Amino acid sequence: MTLILMIALFFYYYSTGGAALSPYGTERIIAQPVPGAVEFEEPKVCAVDDPRLNNSNATSEIKAAIDACGDLPGGGVVVIASSLVVHSASLWLRSNLTLRVEGKVVGTASGYGNRTDPSNSNVSDAPLVYTRREGVMTWAPAGLVNGGRCIRLKDPLVGWDDCAAWRTLENVVVEGRFDGNARGWLAWDDKTQRPALFDLLWIDGLTLRGLSVRNSGYWTLHPTFCDNVRVANADVETTGRNTDGLDVDSSWNVYVGRSRFRTGDDNIALKAGRDWSGRMVNASTRNVLVEATRFGWGNGVAVGSETSGWIQDVVVRDVVFEGTERAAHVKSKPGRGGGARNITFENASGLVQNAVVLTLNYGASSKNPDTLNASSTPHIDDITLKDLDLRAIGWIARDEKKDHYAFFECSGLAADGPRPTTSALVPIKGVVFENVTVRVRGFGTPWSPPLQRCELCEFRASPNTSPPPCSSSSFFSSPAAPQPPRTTMT
Ligand SMILES: *[C@@H]1O[C@H](CO)[C@@H](O)[C@H](O)[C@H]1NC(C)=O
Ligand SMILES: *[C@@H]1O[C@H](CO)[C@@H](O)[C@H](O)[C@H]1NC(C)=O
Ligand SMILES: *[C@@H]1O[C@H](CO)[C@@H](O)[C@H](O)[C@H]1NC(C)=O
Ligand SMILES: *[C@@H]1O[C@H](CO)[C@@H](O)[C@H](O)[C@H]1NC(C)=O
Ligand SMILES: *[C@@H]1O[C@H](CO)[C@@H](O)[C@H](O)[C@H]1NC(C)=O
Ligand SMILES: *[C@@H]1O[C@H](CO)[C@@H](O)[C@H](O)[C@H]1NC(C)=O
Ligand SMILES: *[C@@H]1O[C@H](CO)[C@@H](O)[C@H](O)[C@H]1NC(C)=O
Ligand SMILES: *[C@@H]1O[C@H](CO)[C@@H](O)[C@H](O)[C@H]1NC(C)=O
Ligand SMILES: *[C@@H]1O[C@H](CO)[C@@H](O)[C@H](O)[C@H]1NC(C)=O
Ligand SMILES: *[C@@H]1O[C@H](CO)[C@@H](O)[C@H](O)[C@H]1NC(C)=O
Repeated sequence: MTLILMIALFFYYYSTGGAALSPYGTERIIAQPVPGAVEFEEPKVCAVDDPRLNNSNATSEIKAAIDACGDLPGGGVVVIASSLVVHSASLWLRSNLTLRVEGKVVGTASGYGNRTDPSNSNVSDAPLVYTRREGVMTWAPAGLVNGGRCIRLKDPLVGWDDCAAWRTLENVVVEGRFDGNARGWLAWDDKTQRPALFDLLWIDGLTLRGLSVRNSGYWTLHPTFCDNVRVANADVETTGRNTDGLDVDSSWNVYVGRSRFRTGDDNIALKAGRDWSGRMVNASTRNVLVEATRFGWGNGVAVGSETSGWIQDVVVRDVVFEGTERAAHVKSKPGRGGGARNITFENASGLVQNAVVLTLNYGASSKNPDTLNASSTPHIDDITLKDLDLRAIGWIARDEKKDHYAFFECSGLAADGPRPTTSALVPIKGVVFENVTVRVRGFGTPWSPPLQRCELCEFRASPNTSPPPCSSSSFFSSPAAPQPPRTTMT
């Protein structure tokens, strides 16, 4: 029986079509955990250690050290001395380079003050660069630490990705303490015009090791179009809207381990482009392993909602939640395209608001033309939830019913939202529960949070899953919803 199911799943998987592309256009799957940057035996050392630089602007000195020690066939290390706290404007890394901060680097681009005054270094220390924001290629302020850079624009411009040639990097390591000092950006209305603190585009072989990062004004670690990324022993703490911890954006072969995230938004988010720009760039996020990591406040691991280039082959395992919003969150919306498939959450425990949220209607709005684009229907398939032992308190967000369900929400397209009239309803398929226990606790009595809501959801569950998914014990009472097929594993 199990064998037949596995064979069926196998053929189902390979019939869903639309093989996803790496940003480099080639198929290269590295066995997990991926190695990251090549480390060199006897790298050249460039020290930033002049005591007169303490608590002052050392941008030129750090840049000079990066230029002297970067792009060498034998490798180089820039060391910021342990006795120093140095301030810096945006920096661009080079290949075969380790940036080792033994002291601390504090960003100068805080985002405060007059936004249009070119002499206001609080803003101008993060110069505009061509990059990706919220899954769309655009101009935005550079990060404190940056990777590849656009060196030539297309002529004429095309809108979805205007860069004709990128400077790409290989073998980059960053380690140590950073204070973004970037909280002034939180007040900016246009979130696409805030700098990602580490905006790391186009790096093949990237290691972020023992990073401690505070005071980000937007996404914190943003590897984009990267291959072979290794994040270990990271400690990221942020507060404020959109201050994600780690955003893996159209990147391949990614390992994250032994890290800790407490953030104002998603702790870790896996993304692959948004809407037209995302579909045209068409680069997936693939082969990601997140393990042995602790999640505090903020969302746990979110997959999407920027799914346009596909997110697939993801394992999140051996993780602990310490008051996290959602343990497993996979989301897209009508008109976005692409999707998420073959995503496994395994061996997780701890306290969350909502355990599992799978939705194809995230932020769908009839006022948004993308929502109504019938030619780009997203999919969520093959989500496995195994050996989870969670306590969920449920949550009543101020006006959003989407956050009500403590145990399980699974909403196919468009179970509860607008969709193009011409597009079919699309179920979420291949959801598997195996040995999942969620103990639901309301905070305060007599309130009990609603347990679950299932519409257009095809799942199967092992008998040792409690409560049974989509069962009548759900507190949800809606107008008659399409009944999902129910299977019990043998
Ligand atoms: C994205 O790439 C895949 C794989 O090559 C291809 O099947 C698909 O049609 C592409 N999508 C777009 C919008 O170009
Ligand atoms: C720091 O130094 C760099 C390079 O000289 C300069 O561009 C930047 O404006 C300075 N920032 C501050 C806050 O002084
Ligand atoms: C990086 O090091 C490798 C190995 O020595 C070398 O082949 C490559 O050319 C170097 N890259 C750059 C940009 O210097
Ligand atoms: C640099 O400043 C820090 C405080 O910001 C201080 O703890 C440290 O001792 C100073 N280092 C030197 C070399 O003066
Ligand atoms: C720069 O930001 C600081 C706060 O970090 C603020 O006190 C100062 O007024 C700002 N400078 C300008 C030119 O706005
Ligand atoms: C901001 O700076 C610009 C350019 O220097 C100036 O024209 C404008 O009046 C300033 N705005 C404020 C509110 O100070
Ligand atoms: C699903 O993802 C895992 C982890 O990356 C991978 O080992 C496995 O081969 C994938 N399954 C399929 C059917 O591609
Ligand atoms: C499950 O995850 C926890 C927390 O990381 C870990 O201590 C434990 O060893 C894991 N169990 C297995 C079977 O790997
Ligand atoms: C809908 O998506 C298709 C395919 O990406 C695109 O060509 C078209 O411009 C989109 N339409 C709108 C209204 O965005
Ligand atoms: C079920 O999962 C728990 C962890 O959540 C684990 O301790 C237990 O061994 C698992 N049971 C089986 C039968 O795999």
